[in-house]
Amino acid sequence: MSGLIERYRDRLPFGPGDPVVSLEEGSTPLVAAERLSERVGAEVWLKIEGANPTGSFKDRGMTCAVSAAVREGAEAVICASTGNTAASAAAYAARAGLTGAVIVPDGKIATGKLAQALMHGARVVALAGNFDQALTLVRELTQRHPIALVNSVNAFRLEGQKTAAFEIVEEVGEIDALCIPVGNAGNITAYWKGFTEVGVKPRMLGLQAVGAAPLVDGAPVANPETVASAIRIGNPARWEEAIDAMRASHGSIRAVSDDEILDAYRFLASHEGVFCEPASASGVAGLLKYGADGAERVVCVLTGHGLKDPQTALSQAGSVVPCPADIEAVERAVLG
Ligand code: F0G
Repeated sequence: MSGLIERYRDRLPFGPGDPVVSLEEGSTPLVAAERLSERVGAEVWLKIEGANPTGSFKDRGMTCAVSAAVREGAEAVICASTGNTAASAAAYAARAGLTGAVIVPDGKIATGKLAQALMHGARVVALAGNFDQALTLVRELTQRHPIALVNSVNAFRLEGQKTAAFEIVEEVGEIDALCIPVGNAGNITAYWKGFTEVGVKPRMLGLQAVGAAPLVDGAPVANPETVASAIRIGNPARWEEAIDAMRASHGSIRAVSDDEILDAYRFLASHEGVFCEPASASGVAGLLKYGADGAERVVCVLTGHGLKDPQTALSQAGSVVPCPADIEAVERAVLG
């Protein structure tokens, strides 16, 4: 195994002697989804990005952003985040021996992500504001101080993230559509770039949560709200690029409700054996809601691991069965 800079160096902006900060990210499983395929009437595959080292696709971008920061002589990296970017930046900063700082909306990020950022030793700033405000402030801060910004406004992030498209094409060849959650719109932009570079043009089907769907509404959302905290974003930084990807690929960006997201989240866990976080299920929710649109082969990107957000999982799952320690009771408890 190797990290993605090593694997795809010829297609990434890194030379042979450049420093590489890697946790052997990428090369994630692409799993056939039989039950989902049956329901949708198409061949559906799941790209399990939760299998990256910190449990989300952000690691693809972060290996590139942090390696480039080291090459440029940076001593510190910073990001605004709904949680996953924070966890990933903190891990790669720790690995590189850099100082990491992350600004997150106070009380609005999933527990696992917070634990990761803190464990990796980042300075975690809980902002009395939302993600969009955090990103604006962090951009201003990096104008004032020599700190590398590792949000997906950083072009190296997209370079790393485009490699997921390479992996898909290498594994299953051409696909007709890609279902992908859209928050700050970096990932849909990166996938489109990756597909374009290998001459494949699947329809990009972006999904946002109803309460945080600026690209669907056509206007920024001042107070975005959704159970899918990772995509609780009202004014995506890569707005134009996402619209371009949608148009150029003859795709769409549509909305799914929190209930639809949670239905897909439970379906994946209970029928496909794949536990992703709520935001990640929005692509599948879109596929279930709107259908495959005539596509024969579809890939859904499951962007982050279900363990990131144990609280939402416990609120959606069945309850445990209490039991005294004797065999009759255990029998009743197990056999119902
Ligand atoms: N899915 C998950 C699990 C995410 O964490 C994110 C973004 C997205 C989808 C959307 O990707 O922003 O490139 O459109 N999370 C960012 C963060 C914003 O701070 O972790 P996008």
